[in-house]
Amino acid sequence: MNSPVMEGLRLNVPAYVRHNRLVAWVAEIAALTEAREVYWCDGSQEEYDRLCAQLVDAGTFKRLNPELRPNSYLALSDPSDVARVEDRTFICTPDREDAGPTNNWMDPAQMRGILQHGQPDGTPGLFRGAMRGRTMYVVPFSMGPIGSPIAHIGVELSDSPYVAVNMRIMTRMGRKVLDQLGTDGHFVPCVHTVGAPLAAGQKDVAWPCNATKYIVHYPETQEIWSFGSGYGGNALLGKKCFALRIASTMGRDQGWLAEHMLVLGVTSPDGRKRHVAAAFPSACGKTNFAMLVPPAGYDGWKVTTIGDDIAWIKPGADGRLYAINPEAGYFGVAPGTNDKTNPNCMASLKRDVIFTNVAMTEDGDVWWEGMTDEPPARLTDWQGKPWTPQIAKETGAKAAHPNARFTVAAIHNPVLDPQWDDPHGVPIDAFIFGGRRSTTVPLATEARSWVEGVYMAATMGSETTAAQAGAQGVVRRDPFAMLPFIGYNMSDYFAHWLALGKRLEAAGVKPPAIYCVNWFRKGADGKFVWPGYGENMRVLQWMLERLDGRAGGEEDVFGITPRYGDLNWKGLDFARERFEQVVHHDPQAWGAELRLHDELFRQLGARVPAELDQVRVSIESRLAARAA
Ligand code: OXD
Ligand code: MN
Repeated sequence: MNSPVMEGLRLNVPAYVRHNRLVAWVAEIAALTEAREVYWCDGSQEEYDRLCAQLVDAGTFKRLNPELRPNSYLALSDPSDVARVEDRTFICTPDREDAGPTNNWMDPAQMRGILQHGQPDGTPGLFRGAMRGRTMYVVPFSMGPIGSPIAHIGVELSDSPYVAVNMRIMTRMGRKVLDQLGTDGHFVPCVHTVGAPLAAGQKDVAWPCNATKYIVHYPETQEIWSFGSGYGGNALLGKKCFALRIASTMGRDQGWLAEHMLVLGVTSPDGRKRHVAAAFPSACGKTNFAMLVPPAGYDGWKVTTIGDDIAWIKPGADGRLYAINPEAGYFGVAPGTNDKTNPNCMASLKRDVIFTNVAMTEDGDVWWEGMTDEPPARLTDWQGKPWTPQIAKETGAKAAHPNARFTVAAIHNPVLDPQWDDPHGVPIDAFIFGGRRSTTVPLATEARSWVEGVYMAATMGSETTAAQAGAQGVVRRDPFAMLPFIGYNMSDYFAHWLALGKRLEAAGVKPPAIYCVNWFRKGADGKFVWPGYGENMRVLQWMLERLDGRAGGEEDVFGITPRYGDLNWKGLDFARERFEQVVHHDPQAWGAELRLHDELFRQLGARVPAELDQVRVSIESRLAARAA
């Protein structure tokens, strides 16, 4: 196809692009945003290297010491643009109730006025002229293995080359996706601008962004529009915006699940392999769990990573649930990662990494809080300022931002599962839900039924930590760890999970078992009782043996929990008394907990499925029977 020429704007459509609707949309957005030119990403290594070199020239990237960290870069963001902006994230459905009480909502027509068409008072749409002076990158990407029946395709138009190179790591990106799309394939249109147009001759800054931010989703038309941020989940639109918010609505309509879950494989010494998907809110060790190293005493056991953040799960031909990781890389939090907490992650980060907002050492390598016990004597911090341990002591300044990130391709993970790229996905044997709770919730509990498991996931909560503003130790409910990521009414999402379980059962398929875990119970001394990390393998083994009917447990008010003798203690000296502290059931705490569950359901409104309320009532009566 010849490149259409619009007044002064070259669309530069490569000859291999055969999708007229895509070209027309690119032309429309280029005209709206007044991009200086259009560049179609082919996804090649040559292109990646060229764009990275361009980012170095622009001052956005610093090349790290190639001897210490080959082919790796450091980006320092604007200090105001460091995290997802939940209060600026919108779900725009015609009916407010369809977005539900947990989402920011705006009427689609009103939002289109603000972003595209202009407002009644004459204020132009924010996207009008937003890419002036900049190149618009066309980034075709597949979420999931190209051509997989579980995968879906998106195209992001972005004026950020930082986005283009990160998307190449995080997704299957480039020409091969357009080949798959053919002449009329379906794609989710994603428009992103940093919202910082350049006037003629104006010098750019290293990290352009805008104080005004909008992260907008239109589930009805499956569109994503993101304005003003260059960072992570605000800008890499395949991740939270598509793979969770829009995909969750696709899943609701089409009968599948888009979840905030890691997926891992566990192979036991007899060669049997199982797969589990696990949801945890942030700061609960999700990436660590996905790359778990089995502890001493577990010779012959292997844990392998399929995904660390998102799972797309669809019923397969045999009726079972199959999961893929829609991503191709990890956009993980760096601080706290070290050779003890996650050696496999550290090994993944040896080369070919984009770091964002970590500190730089004098010899051109990276450092973050928790990487080593002793910090280096001198660093350049995430804002480009000199940093020493003494400065930190005096001012509290962090060398790396607490939300500093690495972007690295999954193929660098030494424990990557051989099936991570399998278009059919892997069959899920169990779901795990967990939060950070210093009291009340036991180490592990098995739901007695699908409905009870959905209840556990719906009511899960996590305590706020020092990393978050506001009071510490307050339990925030985060149903299914999806609170910031669900693209529709949370109660309808619960109903969708319940309906899926019923469909599986009606088809004679045993649904995956559901477990609730809590690695974070504290003792009277305020310290964590459970050692966590690799030792979580012991709980994983219990769950897998429960699936085979080989491990015991006892009925608790909340489900079935392991007794001391039900876990494998080989290689760990963990006394029975300590175990009691992590499974101890406190009736008073459970009374308070159930009142909070009730409060959650009341906040969620009238659409909460009655079955979940019935579970709460039955837990209450079990609790009362115990007390009697
Ligand atoms: C993430 C998140 O970045 O959950 O994965 O915020
Ligand atoms: Mn996440």
